[in-house]
Amino acid sequence: MLEYKLSPSVLAADFARLGEEAAAVEAAGAQYLHLDVMDGLFAPSLSIGLPVIRSLRKVSGLVFDVHLMIEEPDRYLADFAAAGADILTVHGEACRHLDRTLDQIHALGCRSGVALNPATPFESLRWVLSKVDMILLMTVNPGFGGQKYVSYMTEKIASLRGWLTEQGYETDIQVDGGITLENAEEVLQAGANILVAGSAIFGKEPQASTRAFLACMERMREGGPA
Ligand code: DX5
Ligand code: ZN
Repeated sequence: MLEYKLSPSVLAADFARLGEEAAAVEAAGAQYLHLDVMDGLFAPSLSIGLPVIRSLRKVSGLVFDVHLMIEEPDRYLADFAAAGADILTVHGEACRHLDRTLDQIHALGCRSGVALNPATPFESLRWVLSKVDMILLMTVNPGFGGQKYVSYMTEKIASLRGWLTEQGYETDIQVDGGITLENAEEVLQAGANILVAGSAIFGKEPQASTRAFLACMERMREGGPA
């Protein structure tokens, strides 16, 4: 049975008060904390890295959901695991030997995620599905918070969920980018079960927004949209 989880993305948080921001969403009931790492190559921007994750780990009990938007992430997997990552998500497009990368993530004691950009077909994951704990469908192009949800991603989510079921898998589907209280129901209905939200949570009233997202997920759990 798939579980619904909320993963607030700190990219939209106030970095001068990061500990407090993380504590606020934890107190409001979020389960994960989404940590976006960018290298200026794979993603056209730079964000946070190891020291920030290490510091947050000391003050947060949330599941650390680390989204590596970096080229050849294998180079840093052990460092991110040591810094406190619970889930390590790599981009399929950035890995030359994805099968080996997924083994490495599990050997480090983390759950594995594979992220796919909007244009990337998911069928390339066919032969490694047994090693993938979560598929992250990017619903914007990587690099920045506050972008608009790419509308045709709803069809991709539904199509991925159908395909996974056909293959005999109940893999977590995480959606990331442009997720708001307005489209949360649509993406959950399509088959996503883990929501990332940055600006929709930290942009205003993190606690109230977290509770509103959780309430939306609760309605879905109870049998569909209210
Ligand atoms: C974008 C990042 C996202 C980003 C989402 O490249 O992967 O996690 O923080 O931000 P919003 O929810 O504002 O689109
Ligand atoms: Zn992300």
